[in-house]
Amino acid sequence: MKNAARLAYDRKRSSRPTARKKTSTATVLVKSALGTADHRSLTRRYRSRADHWTFLFAQITGYSFAVLVLTGVFLTFYFDPSMARVTYDGPYGPLQDVPVSRAYDSTMELSFEVRGGLLMRQIHHWAALIFCASIALQLLRLFFTGGFRRPRLLNWLIWVGLFTLGMVASLTGTILPDDMLSGGSLLLIKGVLESIPFVGTHLQRFVFGGDFPGDVIIERVYWLHILILPLIIAGALAHRRRLVTRQHGHTRFAPGSAAHRLGSHHVTRARAAIVGAPKAAAIAMFLFTCGVLALLGAFVQINAIWQFGPYEPGAITAGAVPGWYMAFLDGAVRIMPGWELDVAGNPLTLAVLVPAIVVPGVFFTALALWPAAEAVITGDRAEHHVLDRPRDRPARTGFGAAGMTFYGLLWLAAANDQIALNFHLDLFAVTSFFRVAIFAGPVIAFVITNRVCHYLTRRERHEAAHGRETGRIVMDAQGRFSEIHARPDRPQAAIDSPDHELATTAKE
Ligand code: HEM
Repeated sequence: MKNAARLAYDRKRSSRPTARKKTSTATVLVKSALGTADHRSLTRRYRSRADHWTFLFAQITGYSFAVLVLTGVFLTFYFDPSMARVTYDGPYGPLQDVPVSRAYDSTMELSFEVRGGLLMRQIHHWAALIFCASIALQLLRLFFTGGFRRPRLLNWLIWVGLFTLGMVASLTGTILPDDMLSGGSLLLIKGVLESIPFVGTHLQRFVFGGDFPGDVIIERVYWLHILILPLIIAGALAHRRRLVTRQHGHTRFAPGSAAHRLGSHHVTRARAAIVGAPKAAAIAMFLFTCGVLALLGAFVQINAIWQFGPYEPGAITAGAVPGWYMAFLDGAVRIMPGWELDVAGNPLTLAVLVPAIVVPGVFFTALALWPAAEAVITGDRAEHHVLDRPRDRPARTGFGAAGMTFYGLLWLAAANDQIALNFHLDLFAVTSFFRVAIFAGPVIAFVITNRVCHYLTRRERHEAAHGRETGRIVMDAQGRFSEIHARPDRPQAAIDSPDHELATTAKE
């Protein structure tokens, strides 16, 4: 009787749909070793939740975008994108009776007369800066850990696209209030358009609707800013989310790396908190992002347009600079020599064309094509679901450091006047330094980073073979001294093995 019951139980258990569908880890490993593993089952198997703090960057991008939309809708009720001239008669004394555009006037109204208006403006502006920063950090994370490899190529392209879209959205936003900073950005756009060979002047007239600055540009930029760009960004974020939740899941770090540093119980607890209550964790993170943005908006002043004044063609601001994401372009323009060529009677202004179009064009194209280039050079077209440690890919990490140095130097060059002023240096000497550093810096960064990565992996191999030095010296019975060597936490064989990814993930 007992046996019959047991038999019935076993039969029922084995006929459960989940039991039949489930592929064991061993089966996946054997299939993959034989090359018969179907990619979908592998992808399903390694699909995991975000359980590392660096995965927060993507979440912060989504949440700051939500804050941008919410505060943006509020601003839209009061902002008037018109360039019609009016006389300022609001509460800000120094601008009394000054002729300004309606766009400037309504932004002043938002700042001084609408309840909570200034707070909303500041939160909106801070959210834009954080939005771009979180995308940049996410790109760095994906790059240095190889999170862009198959099957996540599209995901990588979406992030590169989001970075450029974020830059354009922020630039169009700062143009809207029609203050001096906004005029400076418009002047830059005009110069860049005009530097495009042959069609430049026509393009500039087309964009501005006639002479610069004209009276339609703010309204055109407005629709781009509040409707077209947010829709494209929302579509890109939604598609990226769909890819992560429905198709390839999150990548994960190999066990041992985070656990090694934090202590495994911390990692397990954090993982349990996020995996066990993903909705609560997401809501908490959203509220936390809102809280930080509200604090920044309330206490850290940004874009004080009453201090810059309304835009006047021919004038330029001193000491006021655009958002951080545009600084690398500003730096490139500042250090480029004033070269101009004559092509068939047409001036070719390299001084603007190269820094404002060629440099960012090449930089972002290289970034977008990196995964394809790496796959061709290394011949590695396999799917990867476990992230690399930067040190395990010295060449890629070296190129990443070179790219960061290039970007960082252009960024610093945007402050060449401030550097010269504060360090009592000659402005031309500072500019010349950047002209040399922009070529030498990335090479030096590549060499140093590459060597550091090789050193770290060599040290790990050494520790795997001989154990880690503990600093504890003991004396044996013969009076000889020797140091106790501890066993390394991660077995080297697993690190070196080509099946490292499968093996480490399967262990989890
Ligand atoms: C990724 C999305 C967005 C970014 C990066 C962004 C960025 C910005 C920035 C930097 C400003 C200048 C703020 C200032 O004056 O200090 C601005 C202004 C503005 N934004 Fe956005 N924004 C975004 C989305 C939106 C959306 C969805 C709306 C409306 C539905 C909106 C409406 C406005 C309005 C009306 C202004 C002018 C008012 C003002 O300057 O204070 N924005 N935006």
